[in-house]
Amino acid sequence: MPMDVRAVYPGSFDPVTNGHIDLIQRSSTLFDHVIVAILRNTEKVPLFSVEERTEMLEEAIRGLKNVSVTSFAGLLVDYVEQEKASVIIRGIRAVSDYEYELQMALMNRRLSNKVETVFMLPAESYSFLSSKLVKEIAGLGGSIRGFVPADVEARLQRKFQMK
Ligand code: PNS
Repeated sequence: MPMDVRAVYPGSFDPVTNGHIDLIQRSSTLFDHVIVAILRNTEKVPLFSVEERTEMLEEAIRGLKNVSVTSFAGLLVDYVEQEKASVIIRGIRAVSDYEYELQMALMNRRLSNKVETVFMLPAESYSFLSSKLVKEIAGLGGSIRGFVPADVEARLQRKFQMK
């Protein structure tokens, strides 16, 4: 019987960037279902609420039939098992990401041997992109065109105008 492989792509997505979207598109061709999962219980103070981040992600995945957006709190491996998924997707942009990602992947494997982490590479053109830098540039009035979808760009501009 063919296996139904469900994968969880977790993150803060504050906000979603074109690098995240590239990875979502790539992973949607590899797995039967991809669940994009926004972390709720973070110590970082987010710029966008979970609801806002969900709306931006929903818009970004429109047209991808096997992708859904949710949020989670607590341990990632517990959430992955709860969703009957067996894979965690994480993106690696550069060698500098690897050390932290390796530590997390091995810890998650220790916490649950039913879950495998799969590292994926975004397009090279996004290898320097991060939500943190996008927020910083937008906050300082720089152009973020091409780094995030147009609706996210508009939301960022509105956010910083209100501040
Ligand atoms: O986008 P981020 O901030 O790099 O995502 C980090 C995330 C959400 C993958 C990580 O913080 C996480 O999994 N948090 C959930 C709590 C957890 O399971 N911690 C143990 C990880 S080994």
